[in-house]
Amino acid sequence: MAKVLVVGGAGYVGGSVSAFLMDQGHEVWVLDDLSTGHRRSVLTPHFIEAKAGDRDVVEPLLKREKFDAVFHFAAKSIVSESVKFPEIYWENNVEQTRLLLDAMIAAGVKRFVFSSTAAVFGDPGDREMDESLPKNPINPYGETKLEVEKLLEEYAQKHALQSVALRYFNAAGADPKLRVGEHHDPETHLIPNVLKAALGRNQLKIFGKDYPTKDGTCVRDYIHVWDLARAHEAAMNRMIQNPGKGKFEAFNLGSEEGFTVLEVVQACRKETKQPIPAIEEPRRAGDPPRLVAKSALAKKELEFTTHADSLSFIVSTAWAWEKKQNEKRSAVFLDRDGTINIDPGYLNDPEKLELYPGVGKALARLQKSGFELVIISNQSGVARGLITRQQISRIHERLDELLARDGVKISHYELCFHHPDENCECRKPKPALILKPAARYSIDLSKSYMIGDKWSDMGCGKNAGLKSSILVLTGHGKTDEAEAKKFGPVVVADLTEATDWILSRS
Ligand code: UFG
Repeated sequence: MAKVLVVGGAGYVGGSVSAFLMDQGHEVWVLDDLSTGHRRSVLTPHFIEAKAGDRDVVEPLLKREKFDAVFHFAAKSIVSESVKFPEIYWENNVEQTRLLLDAMIAAGVKRFVFSSTAAVFGDPGDREMDESLPKNPINPYGETKLEVEKLLEEYAQKHALQSVALRYFNAAGADPKLRVGEHHDPETHLIPNVLKAALGRNQLKIFGKDYPTKDGTCVRDYIHVWDLARAHEAAMNRMIQNPGKGKFEAFNLGSEEGFTVLEVVQACRKETKQPIPAIEEPRRAGDPPRLVAKSALAKKELEFTTHADSLSFIVSTAWAWEKKQNEKRSAVFLDRDGTINIDPGYLNDPEKLELYPGVGKALARLQKSGFELVIISNQSGVARGLITRQQISRIHERLDELLARDGVKISHYELCFHHPDENCECRKPKPALILKPAARYSIDLSKSYMIGDKWSDMGCGKNAGLKSSILVLTGHGKTDEAEAKKFGPVVVADLTEATDWILSRS
């Protein structure tokens, strides 16, 4: 089994591939800056919050952990946005990747699987889309992905880097166990938009019915993300089994079958049993009429296959995922230091992080009962120079490792780094630290709880409209119990008792 680093593993495809690799028994570490990804999609306890090109973090990590391979998914990927802000795409997709590759070379890690795209080809017209097709991207997104492929060729020559670029056609569908799926904001992709319309959450728009195709709408090759995941594992194994001098290879990954937009909408109507009304809009800029893969090379070299009846597998898993996203969840919001772990003020050595007794088991019971676990924290110590963001990140990493022993996974960390003198939103009656993640994860506040060790935590919970806020007498916010009761919140000894209290009322 391999030990791998997945950069961008909190996103849709990166998160799905990580889950798949873990299911196969590989040891997966995820690095992601969470700019578009979701911590909830990271299933491994080995998580580092950082940018792909943060050499100060990435290089020591690569040196310390000695990964067999790095998978790279961290990229901006909205075509229209790339046209508007090309410089952001070049910085994020190319420069950050260059820094990541340099860190790998410095650390001696030499296997790289790159998440590329059919967009490197541009508009193929009537030509078949195999690997020999000339690459003429028609937008900055495709250009940046092609540029990284060129970098990989260069690094193969100069630094003996072994790499495989996998050019996906239209990635779609969800993890059949519904742990990870598509969740973009804004959502631009067809299938989630059709399914959101089936749930009455948006109006479906069809962009152009005047294309030279059988029903006038664009033809695409949809590929289940689980089939993509299998190809990633095969790409890594291929490099491990063929050691030696650096080599760059690229494969096109698609089902080789094209569906029009209207055919996809029809498949979604059948699955959801909803009428899904659609309105016609003008063409979306930059959409080629037809993109369908030729994947013979991947079939031969990576033993790549796609799920039989792929479109209905895609739509059924995507629909189950979308319905799950639509369900209102309940959560327990927790202050970390003083509630979960013993904290002598600002913990400067994350290795010394110590949980209060019983915390892992208590959180496991809450999680088993369906509560999302969200840590909220006001980290003003960063602005005051008492602790660095990297140290905080490492504390969370340690916390995740310790809690994973009891099978606990924190869904989300919501932090604010303001200076204490600033009139920040999170200090006002409007408790942004709770409201922001609640909106992001569809959390029903009236069924959710706050547990903290300070009065400010209680105020935050109350103003957010939570069902209850519970003060534990563990941390440095220690309050006299009799005095606390005068003010009304629930006061208990520790997190175990707080859990008992919540579960007896839910
Ligand atoms: N579409 C609609 N309505 C929507 C969304 C999409 O009609 O609400 C249409 C689009 O116009 C297009 C088709 O559905 O004709 C597919 O659109 P997607 O946005 O789902 O996917 P794209 O084919 O545009 O994009 C995909 C990848 C990109 C990649 C591109 C390569 O998601 O990352 O293929 O061309 F760049």
